[in-house]
Amino acid sequence: MDIIRVLMTWTFLAFLVSPNLVQGIGVNWGNQASQNMQPSTIVQILKDNKIDQIKLFDSDHWTVKFFAGTGIEVMLGIPNNYLAELANDYDKAKEWVQENVTKHLYDDGVKIKYIAVGNEPFLKAYNGSNLKTTFPALKNVQKALNEAGIGDKIKVTTPQNADVYESGSNAPSAGNFRSDLKENMIQILKFFKENNSPFLVNIYPFLSLYQNPGFPMDFAFFDGGAKPVQDKGISYTNMFDANLDTLVWSLRKNGIQKMKIIVGEIGWPTDGHIKANVKLAKKFYDGFFKKMATKKGTPLYPGDIEYYLFSLTDENKKSIAPGDFERHWGIFRYDGQPKFPVDFTGKGNDKMPVGAKGIKYLEKKWCAYNSDLKNISLVPDNLGYACAMGDCTALNYGSSCNKLGSVQANISYAFNMYFQMQNQDVEACSFQGLAKIVKTNASTSECLFPIALESAGTRLWMQTGISILAGLLVSLALF
Ligand SMILES: *[C@@H]1O[C@H](CO)[C@@H](O)[C@H](O)[C@H]1NC(C)=O
Ligand SMILES: *[C@@H]1O[C@H](CO)[C@@H](O)[C@H](O)[C@H]1NC(C)=O
Ligand SMILES: *[C@@H]1O[C@H](CO)[C@@H](O)[C@H](O)[C@H]1NC(C)=O
Ligand SMILES: *[C@@H]1O[C@H](CO)[C@@H](O)[C@H](O)[C@H]1NC(C)=O
Ligand SMILES: *[C@@H]1O[C@H](CO)[C@@H](O)[C@H](O)[C@H]1NC(C)=O
Repeated sequence: MDIIRVLMTWTFLAFLVSPNLVQGIGVNWGNQASQNMQPSTIVQILKDNKIDQIKLFDSDHWTVKFFAGTGIEVMLGIPNNYLAELANDYDKAKEWVQENVTKHLYDDGVKIKYIAVGNEPFLKAYNGSNLKTTFPALKNVQKALNEAGIGDKIKVTTPQNADVYESGSNAPSAGNFRSDLKENMIQILKFFKENNSPFLVNIYPFLSLYQNPGFPMDFAFFDGGAKPVQDKGISYTNMFDANLDTLVWSLRKNGIQKMKIIVGEIGWPTDGHIKANVKLAKKFYDGFFKKMATKKGTPLYPGDIEYYLFSLTDENKKSIAPGDFERHWGIFRYDGQPKFPVDFTGKGNDKMPVGAKGIKYLEKKWCAYNSDLKNISLVPDNLGYACAMGDCTALNYGSSCNKLGSVQANISYAFNMYFQMQNQDVEACSFQGLAKIVKTNASTSECLFPIALESAGTRLWMQTGISILAGLLVSLALF
């Protein structure tokens, strides 16, 4: 064979094989933090750790464009508060697709495969408020994709919380969709089936443990040790398998024998609750990756399972309504530094993931309680304010900063979190004279008193600020 033909064969083979070269490690990235890392840094973290799929919660143009040419597959998100207008107005759906999808699809542009329309729209806590809008929104967006000629490559779906199905007993075979949304669900399922869309489900063994004190701890992990759940000759040894198979049963009972299931979110938080810590998170992920590496799937859903970890980074501005752990789901800290050794490939190479590079922090200064002051009557109100507007979730019982050892240190922690979240604004370290700015790092081996990032937002603001200033100077010079 001559060299040209060999080369051609190889190129052809590479071309054939390359779409499958994705390892299939996906991750969610949310940006509800006081300071977010630059999207370019996020791309670097993903590449360095060979994570090749990302799921976003919105479709912010500035963020999405950073993924162009990276080979990273992006799942765009449409927040729930857009569902109504997309449902009611097809033109809005068309505009959305033009502006947020088509725009990114040039040569070597952004690799978009799925659009997540809404996020857990049928969550019990939403009281059915998205029940009427989700399906029409899904249809309109897919129709717009079809009309743009990209409907065969890009599919809509909607990430559902696992609370859309339930099983009276613990047996997966007793599972079915919640009765209040079953009709909607069946419509959506039929549409997914016709459209070749996958079903996205978020599965949280941590939440089962958190919500039911009686939940057998070992069942949340993958190492065995819990009393197996027996169901129609299948022995379930972990909650993940049992939960996913409850979905399979629910689908089957509603006439869907075969449908691609993607795990939209899975992970373990590391702070804010006694069972949310680095040790258990590592145990969970180690077991999960090892299981995924076998590509065996679950008893009723055998084979490879596509999944998106939750989450890439901590988000200190998330609502803590679900629990104080909610701000600590990151495998990486707020600044992109890894929290624990883990091997995404499941081969058990116990090393730290590659952290973010070139992170820019604000100045090395902290806000601390001014312990020279003896009048403590002002403390409760100011502490309350700092915690409500900042983030005190790491002070909880069993959390990383619970053992600081003094009330003063506790107060300093709270004041500093607020100060950093306010971009070290001098006025954010006043607290009616109770606080002062210091240069001493009060962190302990367990508890980090962080320094805020110079965030994408701050930098943008500074640039705009500077250009406004430059503009002013120019106009002054004109006079
Ligand atoms: C595109 O998506 C972003 C973020 O989800 C949204 O703010 C914007 O309104 C969308 N564009 C259109 C035309 O709907
Ligand atoms: C759902 O109902 C509960 C109880 O009536 C209420 O507290 C909550 O705010 C409602 N949530 C939404 C999203 O409407
Ligand atoms: C402490 O501060 C409060 C509120 O400013 C004030 O009412 C109180 O008199 C002060 N107590 C002392 C001992 O200075
Ligand atoms: C610090 O605050 C935490 C959380 O409120 C509390 O459990 C702990 O006892 C406090 N430490 C001291 C020394 O007061
Ligand atoms: C503060 O100390 C902690 C713990 O030793 C360390 O990890 C952190 O990097 C320090 N922060 C700064 C800004 O030097």
